[in-house]
Amino acid sequence: MSLHKTPDFDITVKLSGLTLQNPVIPASGCFGYGQELREFYDIDMLGSFSFKGTTLHPRFGNELPRVAECAAGMLNSVGLQNPGIDAVVERELPRLRAVFHQPLIANIGGFSVEEYAACCEKITQCEQVGIIELNISCPNVHGGGLAFGAEPDCAARVTEACKRVVTKPLYVKLSPNVTDIAAVARAVEAAGADGLSLINTLLGMRVDLKTRGPVLANVMGGLSGPAVFPVALRMVWQVYEATKIPIIGMGGVSSARDVIEMMLAGASAVQVGTANLIDPYACKKIIEALPLEMEKLGITKLRDVVGGGH
Ligand code: SIN
Repeated sequence: MSLHKTPDFDITVKLSGLTLQNPVIPASGCFGYGQELREFYDIDMLGSFSFKGTTLHPRFGNELPRVAECAAGMLNSVGLQNPGIDAVVERELPRLRAVFHQPLIANIGGFSVEEYAACCEKITQCEQVGIIELNISCPNVHGGGLAFGAEPDCAARVTEACKRVVTKPLYVKLSPNVTDIAAVARAVEAAGADGLSLINTLLGMRVDLKTRGPVLANVMGGLSGPAVFPVALRMVWQVYEATKIPIIGMGGVSSARDVIEMMLAGASAVQVGTANLIDPYACKKIIEALPLEMEKLGITKLRDVVGGGH
């Protein structure tokens, strides 16, 4: 019997009319387009996964080194390396179809409003895609990503343009590198977003004691991992209070207990990122641990806890 159908514990969740078999979703950038991780386990057990941030044109990403380890986390400055939207539609999605049958989250990046909209127009036609996740929060590229996510007006403009061309629910992935994340969340909700994903990484850096220069070629990068969990949780809490649309919570989630904590703060589903890089089985283990944690906490239907902490 599959886990989500055990009679005592219902771990299914709902997002904008979609029912996911569980709330665990590998985060964009930590799961590629599914091919590497399918070697490890049956990825069809996931609630969904968010594929690598994809732009209109292929990108090689930033110079190396572009990752650095930190206490309780890591920095990345990948720079949106991806094969471009056409290769994803023509090559990656058909390959994925053989092993993954859940609604997919399409993470879309861009460098102009037109580029975001052009990508959305192409990806919305793909039947495998359940949700489009607009990444307006990548801290590692100049003139894109965070340039749109840092200002409520810019965030609203790109949301509005994409909403006009999509036929799938449009979620907007927010940056924590702002003074007031609730203001950005309210602006994209007013512009038509169907849901929100948060948080992306926190801008940080390391200095190499030998060279006395930055460790990352791009100088700064995004901090992720357990270190950011309390910050992410606080932001999910604030955004839940400020808006009425569903939230996918993420940021340092590494256990079934973290998933439930995120849901109590207001997340309807939860993405897991860096934990996959430490242990490729992380999401599988979290899904399998959920019924046991629910039993300990006296929860029978997981989706009933969404926002329960408020
Ligand atoms: C990257 O490719 O630089 C990471 C993506 C992101 O942080 O949005």
